[in-house]
Amino acid sequence: MLAAPRWTICLLLAVVLGGALTAPASPATADDLPPVETNIIGGTKATAGQFPFAAALLRRGESRTAGLACGASVLSHSWVLTAAHCLLDEDDEYPDSQYGNYVGPSKYDVLTGTTSLTGTGGQRLRVAAIYVHPSYDVADQDDDVALLRLARPTSSAAVAVIGTSSAELALDDTGAAATAAGWGLTSPPPSRTISPDLRSVGLPVQSDATCTAAYPPGKTDPFGNMTEYHASNMLCAGPMSGGKDSCSGDSGGPLLVRAPDTSWRLIGTVSFGIGCAEAGHPGVYQRLTTTSSWIARTRRLGPFNPDGSAFIAQQYRDFTGHQPSAGQLSSWRTKLAGQPGADLITALAASDTWDRNAGMNIRLYRAAFLRNPDTAGLAYWVQQRWGGRSAGWIANQFTSSSEFEGRYGALTDDGAFLTQLYQNVFHRDPDPSGRDFWLHRLGAGERRGDVLLSLSDSSEYRKSTATTVRIIATRFGLLREAPTPSVLTASAAMSQRALIDSLSASYRYASRFSG
Ligand code: ARG
Repeated sequence: MLAAPRWTICLLLAVVLGGALTAPASPATADDLPPVETNIIGGTKATAGQFPFAAALLRRGESRTAGLACGASVLSHSWVLTAAHCLLDEDDEYPDSQYGNYVGPSKYDVLTGTTSLTGTGGQRLRVAAIYVHPSYDVADQDDDVALLRLARPTSSAAVAVIGTSSAELALDDTGAAATAAGWGLTSPPPSRTISPDLRSVGLPVQSDATCTAAYPPGKTDPFGNMTEYHASNMLCAGPMSGGKDSCSGDSGGPLLVRAPDTSWRLIGTVSFGIGCAEAGHPGVYQRLTTTSSWIARTRRLGPFNPDGSAFIAQQYRDFTGHQPSAGQLSSWRTKLAGQPGADLITALAASDTWDRNAGMNIRLYRAAFLRNPDTAGLAYWVQQRWGGRSAGWIANQFTSSSEFEGRYGALTDDGAFLTQLYQNVFHRDPDPSGRDFWLHRLGAGERRGDVLLSLSDSSEYRKSTATTVRIIATRFGLLREAPTPSVLTASAAMSQRALIDSLSASYRYASRFSG
């Protein structure tokens, strides 16, 4: 007979716990429990800010305490990492083949930004989509990781997944002093007591030989679940003498080490164990060094689905005002399979199309009004351009605006108008030939806006304003927001790629989109 799948244990426990777990009116005191089992198991209460990225999966519609299903870690404003086994659809509530054996995104909310399940702080966020590791194996728990893309961004700080440099790869070596955190059982089953407060415990990383000896080939737990240790994608951590461990309810939560600069690195996610805190059975974790490239690939388009279509369509709408053609969509989808999404943003932000719209408008603001555009004004003119207005028509709106007249007076004389523009744009009076040229054209009926546009789009002015215009146009393209003077100053030292990367990873960018 087939072994009962392991998740039955974890989920059953969670369900049973659920009922018992309304905020305990009189929480168990340390006196009620065996001395070593006061915590996550054998750990301590986390302080606010110690694990700002720690998150919990809560069943939709249930309270924060009753609904605790699993732990998780915030990787960015839009992405949370958990265990694949937390997402198994054990009751076949989601028969839709779209999710296979997994629950749909409406099963769980993600609680971020708090250590307390009984409190009211933090953000309880909906999930837009779930991504289970494609090689997750329910029978033996290989690749027990999954990513959740949040429908709205979390403002919590993120944790970095262990990197791929040799220095990073050494961080999870045998003997590393790791830390697990979670709200899971504070004493081994049949206990039902999860912790209302986040707890953490220090756990030494064990060698593969030790882990294999603890979970040898063919080994099953008392419930018949396979519990083989697979060094290729698992690590185990905890004292061999027992007493300290993660437990049910901690699944999917973080196993961490400190990098030399003292920042946390996520080296594992809570996966399984025989019992909890038993001597000889350290907890088993998904080894993230073997999973980090899948994680990076899956979350690389920030708030968008990693398949790229929605990302590409959004960039075209933001920088060209229309949807991509079928050809543009398919060619960028192919390219983005092997290139960062920032390549598309870089290309569109530097395109003539965007320069003839945002760039042109920003130069008009500066040349006509000697200031940078405000968000509402720039949004309005960008929209006008996409609506079919010519650059000359827009420039004429500038020269006949109340702001223009308010600044320079009526300027009834063409010569005074021209001098003012030359001063604004070139910081000098017009030379005689330039003056004759423009006065002649104005006399022949050319509109003042056309003169403004010629000067503001001249190569000399483009050059002198290039950095400022690029920063404003790029920020507006991505965030629909014009920078404040201090933001502009801070951005001036950044390369265009660094600017694009930081804007597209920002909370504000993710909050533009939902779903
Ligand atoms: N599978 C359990 C859960 O879903 C976690 C078990 C961790 N066990 C351990 N001994 N470290 O919550």
